[in-house]
Amino acid sequence: MAPTPVNDLTPAGNLGPATALVCRECGHRRELGAFYACEECFGPLEIEYDFGGLTRADIESGPANIWRYRGLLPVPANVADTPNTEPGLTRLVRADNLAEALGLQRLWVKDDSGNPTHSFKDRVVAVALAAARELGFKVLACPSTGNLANAVAAAAARAGIRSAVFVPSNLEQQKIITTAVYGGTFVTVDGNYDDVNRLASEIAGEQEDWAFVNVNVRPYYAEGSKTLGYEIAEQLGWRLPDQIVVPVASGSQLTKIDKAFQELIKLGFVEDKPYRVFGAQAEGCGPVSAAFKAGHDVVRPVKPDTIAKSLAIGNPADGPYVLDVVRRTGGAVEDVTDAQVVDGIRLLARTEGIFGETAGGVTVSVLKKLIDDGRLDPSAETVIINSGDGLKTLDAVSPVVAPSANIAPSLAAFRAAGLA
Ligand SMILES: Cc1ncc(COP(=O)(O)O)c(C=O)c1O
Ligand SMILES: [Zn+2]
Repeated sequence: MAPTPVNDLTPAGNLGPATALVCRECGHRRELGAFYACEECFGPLEIEYDFGGLTRADIESGPANIWRYRGLLPVPANVADTPNTEPGLTRLVRADNLAEALGLQRLWVKDDSGNPTHSFKDRVVAVALAAARELGFKVLACPSTGNLANAVAAAAARAGIRSAVFVPSNLEQQKIITTAVYGGTFVTVDGNYDDVNRLASEIAGEQEDWAFVNVNVRPYYAEGSKTLGYEIAEQLGWRLPDQIVVPVASGSQLTKIDKAFQELIKLGFVEDKPYRVFGAQAEGCGPVSAAFKAGHDVVRPVKPDTIAKSLAIGNPADGPYVLDVVRRTGGAVEDVTDAQVVDGIRLLARTEGIFGETAGGVTVSVLKKLIDDGRLDPSAETVIINSGDGLKTLDAVSPVVAPSANIAPSLAAFRAAGLA
């Protein structure tokens, strides 16, 4: 088949099993290319596929990273051969101590802090990079709440291409340093994430060979989060959990985990059974939670004010689709205070030895709230996502954790401290 011209740069390359782009709002279809908004109604575009005769054995014989699912992603079959950060296949931790503390029977933590730059964003960036190459882009760019900045800068460094990253200037110092270290163009902007996102759209309009992964390459980028759903199912022995709690910023991750579960059911890779999807937000930036509670279909933007900065998106692009998923599956969206975010981080750390970032604290505390309110079934198998690493949000816990004592280097001093 002749390649389809997609922009002034280059024809669309090889995007694996992807076949078309379809509007989520009006269903209008168009050819694959560097498009992200529907030409009819400006709705967001989704990728459609033909998965052919793909089997579970094909996946199981693949590499020990997200590329084992390449047959389910908009990437070429040889994607693993080009330099990339090889994210994925992070631990699914059986969390019996946390389960007991919360009164749950069976709980798992999908610990995505184990990715190369310590958050789930390495997944979406790896897919965006592979697609961006095929679409002829030259620069990997993004607006970010922090973790995406790390992932884009690192992936571009590894791929040997230029990066251009834009973040709010009030970001955690740890996330500034862990982006700057990779080199590339890195700009802090005096505004909140929604301001930075708007600026990125304007720059994308001018720089036609810049792939803003979560803006003009968003349909491809977002598919990377499906790998969280695939991995959870495969790691459970090709089963779906009964309940899953997912942090929500733009809402992309949550909707794509659901898409992954639906695809696995359709392919016959897992049993078709009900599951409930729950979204987790911070009270200081809970536009999707507010819409859920009010019974609204639209999400009214808010001005974020929370320590969970990675989730501080006041105008979430996929908010309405999160509402669709949680309502369809019988889940909910809930929010917690900043104090509860800190409690959640500490609870996960002391029960399971996992130091999550503020987004993880949001998720653990929302899990607790849903159990306490009787909205989550304590006897049903539950998975929560720890999407990032606590070392990047030290300020959240530094005021409330400290050594047990500071002593002189003598046995007498140890005894006197009363720690035995
Ligand atoms: C650690 C972490 N968890 C969760 C999210 C939410 O992802 P999404 O925007 O796909 O809802 C983000 C987004 O930046 C994040 O950094
Ligand atoms: Zn449309």
